[in-house]
Amino acid sequence: RSMVRETRISADTLIYPMFVQDGENIREEIPSMPGQYRWSLDRVDELLQQVTDSGVKSVLLFGIPAEKDEISSAWQPDGIVQRAVHHIKAAYPQLYVITDVCMCEYTSHGHCGILCGHDVDNDKTLEVLAKTALSHVQAGADMVAPSDMMDGRVARIRQVLDENGYVNTPIMSYSVKYASAFYGPFRDAAGSAPAFGDRKSYQMDPHNAREALLEAELDVQEGADILMVKPGMAYLDVLRSLKEKFHQPVALYSVSGEYAMIQAAAAAGYVDREAVICESAVCMYRAGADLLITYFAMELAQYIREGRIG
Ligand code: PBG
Repeated sequence: RSMVRETRISADTLIYPMFVQDGENIREEIPSMPGQYRWSLDRVDELLQQVTDSGVKSVLLFGIPAEKDEISSAWQPDGIVQRAVHHIKAAYPQLYVITDVCMCEYTSHGHCGILCGHDVDNDKTLEVLAKTALSHVQAGADMVAPSDMMDGRVARIRQVLDENGYVNTPIMSYSVKYASAFYGPFRDAAGSAPAFGDRKSYQMDPHNAREALLEAELDVQEGADILMVKPGMAYLDVLRSLKEKFHQPVALYSVSGEYAMIQAAAAAGYVDREAVICESAVCMYRAGADLLITYFAMELAQYIREGRIG
């Protein structure tokens, strides 16, 4: 069986998403994501130690600022993500740090861009996103991951990074991001649920699969180094079609709602928790994921080490 196994999994390809929050002495469990916490920087070493001990080599950072406003201050050099990056790269230089670049955690209205009336102004938003990405890289981020879904943002971020000398910093684009109910728990975690309306003018319709190829193709033309599909479990057909068409590595984000469902079903005794975590991860890799972003990353690394999957 192990000789003819088609899918091999390595902890090198796991990415752990984590939440850092402005403030002190915070280690707050996210109610809809039991087992996941928001951390202030004075406590975050507890988590980072676990991450490095687990064998996971990469984290994806989300910031929760002390205050939100209309236009986002996500680009400020002393912002929560920038300080977190600085801290991590100083204390754990071997950890590969990716930052989520978006505005929804920073805006009072919860939308992923600058508003014009009740609509997001795509082009004005690009400037803030590029400035934010640059500030993350200046703080030491190894890679940036724009998740806003504005058109043209990969090209603009690439241009600004290049102009500032960061020609070697890769961009992992949330190329194919559906307008999904599976993000619910994340929005609790980040306080980023839109105050009005929804994200359907910039996130994709779950009915569409060919459109995903178009979105990914644009990102490739704009210079994306890694293409991401999100959510995971319900979108494996889309992942597979990207894998077949493009030569860039493809990442899959198994999102907060997927994590929450497994945790809840396991807590109720309805499923075998470890078996379901392992099987779903294996299937995501089998469908084509080169990289897997998952809240179960640390546990999966352990299961791989113990030979339970791999
Ligand atoms: C920011 C962003 C979201 C997620 C990642 N980046 C939320 C959203 O689009 O509403 C979701 C991640 C998850 O659910 O685990 N735009």
